[in-house]
Amino acid sequence: MLIAPSILAADFGKLKQECMMVNESKADWFHLDIMDGMFVPNISFGTPIIKAIAKTATKPLDIHLMIVNPDRYLDLFINLGADVLTVHYEACNHLHRTLEYIKSKGVKAGVAINPHTNVSSLESIIDMIDILCLMSVNPGFGGQKFIQSTYEKLTQAKSMIDNSFCRTLIEIDGGVSFTNASRLQELGADVLVAGSYVFSSKDPRLAIESLKNTHR
Ligand code: DX5
Ligand code: ZN
Repeated sequence: MLIAPSILAADFGKLKQECMMVNESKADWFHLDIMDGMFVPNISFGTPIIKAIAKTATKPLDIHLMIVNPDRYLDLFINLGADVLTVHYEACNHLHRTLEYIKSKGVKAGVAINPHTNVSSLESIIDMIDILCLMSVNPGFGGQKFIQSTYEKLTQAKSMIDNSFCRTLIEIDGGVSFTNASRLQELGADVLVAGSYVFSSKDPRLAIESLKNTHR
């Protein structure tokens, strides 16, 4: 199980320390949420903050683009050091081309789907997706409640991936905490994103460990 703390929930006044905490923890990736105020009703952060994170981070950067027409900015985020670059299915008119482009740059290609989007929408393209991100909240804000129907979507995604014999990892993003992590792992999740659960806990490193150590 890979754990990706979402920096959106970090204290930006001490960003460097927060990044060092993630470096020293059992976390696997840094999850960076990019919001444009168009695709989602919120604006997060951009280039200067990503540069600052990249300078300190010693683990892969998992960049989640919640922006309209992400093709305009793929090069920017690739050049900023994305190891995983995730676009939204709902924001792409030519998803096949977008994924081909990301992969051609040696970056892992992710596709996120909103809670209302069916997993089956990705059936014809699943073999091109390195990371399938199931949004378990409506994207735009941290600290929201986990949507229960995600469990069923996770089961569907897992069987779609198994049936097509591809190596796509399933990532769950939104409202993840110790209370749902073990069930998510049982159902086949590979990556858990967690923002507020990690950064608002008294001991963030321990919180990360508690997600990592859920038993099957
Ligand atoms: C939501 C973002 C998430 C968010 C998760 O739009 O994509 O990555 O930061 O935050 P929590 O874990 O607080 O739901
Ligand atoms: Zn995210």
